[in-house]
Amino acid sequence: MKHIASIADLRSLCAAWQRKGEGIALVPTMGNLHAGHLKLVREAQRLARRVVVSIFVNPLQFSPNEDYDSYPRTLDADLQQLAELEVDAAFSPSVAEMYPRGLTATSWVEVPELSEILCGAFRPGHFRGVATVVVKLLNLVQPNIAVFGEKDYQQLLLVRRMVTDLNFPVEIAAVPTVREADGLAMSSRNRYLSTQERAKAPWLYRTLCEAQQALLAGERDFDALSKRQLLKLKEQGFKPDYFVIRRAGDLAEAAPNERPLRILAAAWLGNTRLIDNLEVM
Ligand code: PAJ
Repeated sequence: MKHIASIADLRSLCAAWQRKGEGIALVPTMGNLHAGHLKLVREAQRLARRVVVSIFVNPLQFSPNEDYDSYPRTLDADLQQLAELEVDAAFSPSVAEMYPRGLTATSWVEVPELSEILCGAFRPGHFRGVATVVVKLLNLVQPNIAVFGEKDYQQLLLVRRMVTDLNFPVEIAAVPTVREADGLAMSSRNRYLSTQERAKAPWLYRTLCEAQQALLAGERDFDALSKRQLLKLKEQGFKPDYFVIRRAGDLAEAAPNERPLRILAAAWLGNTRLIDNLEVM
């Protein structure tokens, strides 16, 4: 596996593959790799001859009061895992390499509507940061395919919308959420949880599963159901940002008989913000 930190080296490696007609899949990550990330990598390997994994804790998608400084950085262990999977290249640029003119002066990409609701409403500027770094990575690698996780469902839809709106010649592939044995969605942020919080954390998934069951059993009052589940989260000690049932394709409000739906929730346990979501066909 090649470990690359400079944009020039990344471009020349990808250009050489392209000249040979070898397809490229890109897996963007912020590192601290877990089994969820590795499933994306294996899917990328199934879909393309060459796989590039980017590892970059993107400062542009964190607000000043968020966890940019404490976000877990485990580059050596990440590189070892990727080498074991025989990934072709890992790209881990510095902040100066990605944003040479600084964070406030750089050009950015805004995806209206989808970036303003749900997580976007609670994390202003977050999705602008995500969209901007993903566009840069797509321009650097020029992959045929980029792979994203359903764990960050709003992010997945936003990236799809962006590449469609801006005519990027790339296919966006989605991978279902990888979970711990007790249902908790794997996340780099889970390591912030105390032992007690970790024991409570699967309730987020449980409340989503209960809502999924209720909807499958014919419940049509989305508001009442969401409020019940929000209350359950509070009873378990969470501070929920939202619990909603939306149209799966664009996260708009859904009519009672509309399908497919997506149930999405975000909630704090102490200082850790957890998100999760489930499909209702
Ligand atoms: P990060 O949180 O590191 O996630 C990288 C990719 O892994 C995302 O597509 C995410 O949805 C996926 N992922 C994370 N946990 C997962 C799980 N348990 N199961 C399946 N997939 C999972 O998301 C980001 O980084 C950043 O916003 C990024 C897209 C890299 C832009 O900076």
